[in-house]
Amino acid sequence: MELDWKNLGFGYMPTDYNVRCYYRNGKWGELEVHSSQKIDIHIAATCLHYGQESFEGMKAYMGKDGQIRIFRWKDNAARMRSSAKGIKLAEVPDEIFHSAIVKAISLNKQFVPPHGTGASLYIRPLLLGTGPEIGVKPSKEYVFMVFVMPVGPYFKEGFKPVDMMVCRDFDRAAPLGTGNIKVGGNYAASMLSIEVAHNKGFATALYLDAREKKYIDEAGPANFFGIKNNTYITPDSPSVLPSITNKCLQELAKDMGLKVERRKIPIEELEELEEAGACGTAAIISPIGKIADPASNKIYTISKDGKPGKVSEQLYKRLIAIQYGDEVDKFGWTEIVS
Ligand code: PLP
Ligand code: COI
Repeated sequence: MELDWKNLGFGYMPTDYNVRCYYRNGKWGELEVHSSQKIDIHIAATCLHYGQESFEGMKAYMGKDGQIRIFRWKDNAARMRSSAKGIKLAEVPDEIFHSAIVKAISLNKQFVPPHGTGASLYIRPLLLGTGPEIGVKPSKEYVFMVFVMPVGPYFKEGFKPVDMMVCRDFDRAAPLGTGNIKVGGNYAASMLSIEVAHNKGFATALYLDAREKKYIDEAGPANFFGIKNNTYITPDSPSVLPSITNKCLQELAKDMGLKVERRKIPIEELEELEEAGACGTAAIISPIGKIADPASNKIYTISKDGKPGKVSEQLYKRLIAIQYGDEVDKFGWTEIVS
């Protein structure tokens, strides 16, 4: 496959095959391989009416050694089960999750971007309530699907600072709502505010805690972290998604001799941050340049020279070195797909 690997954006692209598994009569069936990009779905499926669906985001990386690596898949599988518990979906066992992603990668090997291009194969596991219900109740039938596509950076700037806008007029998720699980409704709830931020020239929206509007929650598609006094700081909030990338960065920060604090971050503290970034599978690390808070007429300039901070850069380099197999993975995060 010849693609312009170095200039890929983050967008949908068809690949050859997707993998599906159906849940009927209280149990999961066998994995199926499909080449159609469409699904045949009941008009009364619960995913369509009541948002009974969950998805995950993962990546596969081509190493210099020609081996394809996946990253912390067990954490994604566990998070999807936590999402399933939260909105009453059938839970996908590890074995099915793992075989489906490995099969989807293997069947679409030609789409795994070559080492050194900075691109990777994005993996999208998706779990839908497919049974017909018209009252608000969980479906009795589900489909779990995995499809893949080659991607570049989520923010077109790549590893360069982007500006974000605090959206006080919107909440992405409520403290006792679904922000801590990965369900479609959270993203539907974020679209208008992200569009508002885009229209004002910002890369995405940054949300505050919904209860008090005092503390930083997270960005539209990624967690938030800051660096100050040799400390990695990230919000402790019931409404942010427990990011696997963020968990890795906390471990890497400790390994690099930084302190790690998971705590509430008052918005005014942005003034004191030496560096800040958004982190996630798609975003990897997106350094943050400025954060505007139009409601209080404030602009917090985090990157004074328009460049990523030193600590963010070290974290970024180590994370991708492990993911692409360039650095020994002493944490046991990667698995080679045979
Ligand atoms: N926060 C939100 C809202 C996300 O959509 C994502 C992406 O999955 C993340 C954070 C980052 O999570 P992870 O690092 O597990 O990809
Ligand atoms: C990811 O980082 O994988 C995500 O799911 C974020 C996004 C594309 C919504």
